[in-house]
Amino acid sequence: MSMDRSADASLDVRVSRSGGGNAPAHQQSFTVPRQPSQTVLDVVTYIQRRLDPSLAYRFACRVGMCGSCAMTVNGKPRWTCRTHVADVARDGRLDIAPLANLPVVRDLVTDMREFFDKWARAKGQFAGTATRHDDFARVAPTSEARRAVDEAIECIGCGICYAACDVVAWNRAYLGPAALNRAWTLVNDVRDAASRERLAAVAGDAGCHSCHTQGSCTVRCPKKLSPTASIAGLKRAATRAMLKGSL
Ligand code: SF4
Ligand code: SF4
Ligand code: FES
Repeated sequence: MSMDRSADASLDVRVSRSGGGNAPAHQQSFTVPRQPSQTVLDVVTYIQRRLDPSLAYRFACRVGMCGSCAMTVNGKPRWTCRTHVADVARDGRLDIAPLANLPVVRDLVTDMREFFDKWARAKGQFAGTATRHDDFARVAPTSEARRAVDEAIECIGCGICYAACDVVAWNRAYLGPAALNRAWTLVNDVRDAASRERLAAVAGDAGCHSCHTQGSCTVRCPKKLSPTASIAGLKRAATRAMLKGSL
């Protein structure tokens, strides 16, 4: 059970340090004073600013919008700017490491290229047909296709679902929950003209049919989205297209 230990003087923080590449990581211990409402990102920032300026980590917005601060905290992927120490510290201790399933650039910084390359492989780019001379395309908020992606479009690209996915861990070719979630938003976009190509891109061996639907991505998503549901939608759409002979 989590409890607020802000009355305690300090936290014992163990941080994974590495130079990236194939260099093995080692743990470095720091003692960080507790503060009320302290977040895990506050702790990492304190270490970098007061104890060891060589610590590499990444953040931008600090308010849960940019998705850049994700790390592994006590074994689970989390957005650190919105994770309070009081909710995750165990006996005054925090273990902080980079996100799993991604190469490490240095210390807590992962290389997100593979993650976003998979968005491109899943045809995650909007393919419109309108020109600047056309009127604005209006999508009714109450339409079935728009409502199907009401949640999914809120993805901030943090990579937490990707780090939580055991199929990604077994099969590095698997497109993963975030790229497939993105593809689902576009499959339901009535203005998009590449639905068939997109379904073909996600229906292969490394695509939606490899998902085992156990939902670790959905459990961990900090925005409370359900990539699992998006992937199930893609499976249905791809199967329908196959039965119709359009795939
Ligand atoms: S439900 Fe699918 S995408 Fe999500 S973690 Fe499991 S295998 Fe990965
Ligand atoms: S689906 Fe959720 S966990 Fe995955 S990248 Fe988007 S916001 Fe992050
Ligand atoms: S710093 Fe932007 S989401 Fe955490």
